[in-house]
Amino acid sequence: SKRKADFTIGFSQCVGSDLWRKTMLQEMKMELSLHPAADFIYKDAGGNSTKQINQVRDMLNQGIDLLIISPNEAQPLTPIVEEAYNKGIPVVVLDRKTTSNQYTAYVGADNYQLGMMAGEYIKSLSKKPVNVVEIMGLPGSSPAIERERGFKDGIAGSPNVKIEYKVYGDWLKANAIKQLSNIKAHLADVNYVFAHNDVMASGARIYFNQLNLSKNVKVIGVDALPGQGGGLQMVADGVLNASLLYPTGGKEAIATAFQILNKLPFNRENIMQSLVIDSSNVQLMKMQWIRINSQQRDIDKQQSLLQEQRIIYNDQKIILNIMVIT
Ligand code: FRU
Repeated sequence: SKRKADFTIGFSQCVGSDLWRKTMLQEMKMELSLHPAADFIYKDAGGNSTKQINQVRDMLNQGIDLLIISPNEAQPLTPIVEEAYNKGIPVVVLDRKTTSNQYTAYVGADNYQLGMMAGEYIKSLSKKPVNVVEIMGLPGSSPAIERERGFKDGIAGSPNVKIEYKVYGDWLKANAIKQLSNIKAHLADVNYVFAHNDVMASGARIYFNQLNLSKNVKVIGVDALPGQGGGLQMVADGVLNASLLYPTGGKEAIATAFQILNKLPFNRENIMQSLVIDSSNVQLMKMQWIRINSQQRDIDKQQSLLQEQRIIYNDQKIILNIMVIT
């Protein structure tokens, strides 16, 4: 017989294919493993807002007890999220937001603050006039809007820092490179790139290398993921000069979901901390990650040993029952 789930959580992901969101899902699954009686429905919209709306609608029709969502673009996803909320389905908004305050809880870093930190960082390093190219995320997605605003305010008041060009890279490396190639003729006097994520920042580095202009350009990104292909390694390797840590909030979103479902106290706004990672602290961050990672492996090992013991115990129980019966 199929066990009956105590809760069903639906998670609507705007796009699931990049490292940052794979890390998010991993963190969620780790936290979910503490709640084995719950069901988890995962939908990946592949970066398509219409598809995401339909997937949320499907989940609502199917019957979920709580919705976690990272809305691809704020405006198009607002009505369906409001609909869920007004039906009495608790909504945990994760990383990207809608334009509405009709949600149960938010989990994520403060993207305005993050843009501001990037601006202040460049400001603090610029004793002479510098030209900046800003490569923004997807237009209409809340982190792109907020990082742009924060960055502008972060450099405000500096006589030296000038945003020379702003382009939309849509969070994607190829698009970032394409947008830079459109302004190729103007890139010779660029001193800084601020890209709204590390994926686009790495694209910028590749492109400036191609133009033989890399030497004079400092590239700053966002995310600072650990592991292979992540921003931490790119900062350590000097591909990026800095990256702002952007925690995925995966663990916290699941923990908040269960607080809500179990009618426990919870925070409506769960703001995760960020920090600038550059050559001064990247080794420390890498060491910390290696340590956490090895602890996690130990936990996994203990879990599977426990599972083996459970299987052995159940087998013995069955044998014992047979013996008692016969
Ligand atoms: C991943 C991503 C991150 C970025 C975030 C913003 O899909 O593009 O790189 O920080 O989304 O929502």
